[in-house]
Amino acid sequence: MSGPVANVSLNELMAEMRAEVDVALEQALASRKAIPTRLADAMRYSLLAPGKRLRPLLALLGAQAVGSDRHQAIHAAVAVEMIHTYSLIHDDLPAMDDDDLRRGRPTCHVQFDEATAILAGDALLALAFEVLAEGLTHLSHSNGYFTPAVVADALRRLAQAAGPEALVGGQALDLLAEKEGGDLEKLQTIHRGKTGAMIRVSLELGGISGGGTSLQLDSLQQYGNSLGLAFQVVDDLLDVESTADAMGKRTGKDSSRGKLTYPGLLGVDASWEKARGLVRQAEQALEGFGNAAWPLVELARYVLSRKN
Ligand code: IPE
Ligand code: IPE
Ligand code: MG
Ligand code: MG
Ligand code: MG
Repeated sequence: MSGPVANVSLNELMAEMRAEVDVALEQALASRKAIPTRLADAMRYSLLAPGKRLRPLLALLGAQAVGSDRHQAIHAAVAVEMIHTYSLIHDDLPAMDDDDLRRGRPTCHVQFDEATAILAGDALLALAFEVLAEGLTHLSHSNGYFTPAVVADALRRLAQAAGPEALVGGQALDLLAEKEGGDLEKLQTIHRGKTGAMIRVSLELGGISGGGTSLQLDSLQQYGNSLGLAFQVVDDLLDVESTADAMGKRTGKDSSRGKLTYPGLLGVDASWEKARGLVRQAEQALEGFGNAAWPLVELARYVLSRKN
């Protein structure tokens, strides 16, 4: 793979894509005029807070990797960020990780109240499916890519990744492991569920939105599997090694809550080695794409060097 084209760096490309995503997130909320004000305020507060927008970027770059215009995947990008944000709002609740800082701001339940935070999460989860269904239906009318079966398959994949066998199941096991502990196999199941599945499906939905072949979708899925696990291993490491100022969320909390984590089980050095190995695997999964996937190659490396 020959690397960046037209002298655009990954950082510049990420900034450009984040701005596009934020406009689309803003529009998706602003166009729904009947949302009660306080609920809309809470949804907006968390959704538009300064996150990395990793999952939307993966959706856009997934479409680009399969040879399409990245804008084809903007609805998928909005949908995955809505589900991710819902999961953060609920993850921070007193009944879960009980956090007061997120994306450099008070968490949703601290800024508003617990009931509003729960409902803002519920609302973002449902709205994500509305946005994706609407977007794919519109795309299928405008360019004829998508049969109803393809649209239903995309929605099914997103429901699976957000559901009890993946994100929600991973969160349930994560909380249970605070009390029961566990081994490396259990930890991998937790991480693949709570974090990996949404990262993987972001790429898949990008590939589908771009009209990718099943071979291309398989490669994106493999990349997403490795990257998704690497991402959560690094999250565990940054909880040990970084600061609240840098991360925009509290650090040092995993060990104080007794979470099952990679550094907790393997130690810091072996966990970094694990993350590097997973990123190498992720890069290998992209070999068939050629230059169209250079941003995904660089993004995998960024996951290792990220500061927040
Ligand atoms: C935080 O996700 C929760 C995890 C799955 C580790 P991110 O690190 O992507 O959070 P934002 O979106 O940038 O705030
Ligand atoms: C969060 O994992 C995973 C989801 C929100 C689904 P963490 O609990 O490790 O995320 P942070 O560290 O609070 O961002
Ligand atoms: Mg958690
Ligand atoms: Mg948490
Ligand atoms: Mg964490």
